[in-house]
Amino acid sequence: MKTVVSGIRPTGNLHLGNYFGAVKNFLQMQEEYNCYFFIADIHSLTTHPTPADLHQSVKTVLAEYLAMGLDPEKCALFIQSDVPEISELYTYMNMNAYLGELERSASFKEKVQTQRNNVNAGLLTYPVLMAVDILIHKADLVPVGKDQEQHLEMTRTFGNRFNHMYNTNFFPEPQAFSFTGDLVKVPGLTGSGKMSKSGGANDAIFFSDDDKVTHKKIMRAKTDEGPKAMNQEMSTEINNLFDLMHLVSEQDVIETFRKQYADCTIRYGDLKKQLAEDTLKFIAPVRERIKEVEADTEYLSRAAKTGMEKARESAIKTIEEVRQIIGFRKFY
Ligand code: TYM
Repeated sequence: MKTVVSGIRPTGNLHLGNYFGAVKNFLQMQEEYNCYFFIADIHSLTTHPTPADLHQSVKTVLAEYLAMGLDPEKCALFIQSDVPEISELYTYMNMNAYLGELERSASFKEKVQTQRNNVNAGLLTYPVLMAVDILIHKADLVPVGKDQEQHLEMTRTFGNRFNHMYNTNFFPEPQAFSFTGDLVKVPGLTGSGKMSKSGGANDAIFFSDDDKVTHKKIMRAKTDEGPKAMNQEMSTEINNLFDLMHLVSEQDVIETFRKQYADCTIRYGDLKKQLAEDTLKFIAPVRERIKEVEADTEYLSRAAKTGMEKARESAIKTIEEVRQIIGFRKFY
């Protein structure tokens, strides 16, 4: 059976991008594969959260995973820092990752620009830790959004380099995966690119937002002056709104608005109102379930413990073999 690994950083609440890029695939994959899904709390230390914020964010994401339908019996649902073998393998793999290639990573280059006063070594070696998350369970498939493609490429490089260095085929080559075929990129509402938390308060639609906030955000989304000629090409902003619609609206509703765009009768206010309505229909039940799960501390604790045990069992097996391969042998 194929093994699957994927994770999400606990930097607050999950948004539609996280869901459609990652969690939606997790839900389907837990039914058919040997799955490890985790909360990447060590990764999130690169931004120096306070201990209270860190704990709260981990709790929220755990509740969100469970509320969305991840089943601790069907998959290993765990918290990264609960598996110390990850940190151990990270130490070893850092020895085979080179400054040049780490500096060329797109996410590192972006962070150098956006958090100039906190360019720490953890940011530089972020792709090594991510590779370790994947390699420690010898994953074949990694369900992620399009933004993680380069990290997967680096994971293959590090795994292959280890294999080559020790003349083994220990680590398989993991592939990024999405049931839709292509990796997903959910656009944000500000027209600036992918939906993300760092895109500003109005860019992302969070599952935790109440109806009013979500409605307001969508009604404020950027548009243009409207089509001036029949079948005019769409601007990025309008294209983004249609892309979002594809995630939450019925096909015939989308077609109606497409036709209206093509013959210049479209009213963006109506388009956004429809998008807001359909988004809320999708989010509201999940949001209610998140609240219930988050209040059930016993369920959270049981889920995290079961996940930790499953993940450690697999990680310990890998790390013991890695120690042998590297040449760490006991004298006692
Ligand atoms: P993170 O926490 O930024 O995002 C979590 C997942 O959500 C996806 N995603 C999106 N997909 C489509 N459109 C969007 N707008 C969008 N925004 C986020 C991401 O692609 C990701 O799948 N480095 C990873 C976390 C990580 C990881 C791993 C993932 C750590 N170790 C091992 C897979 C395997 C990250 O920062 O994702």
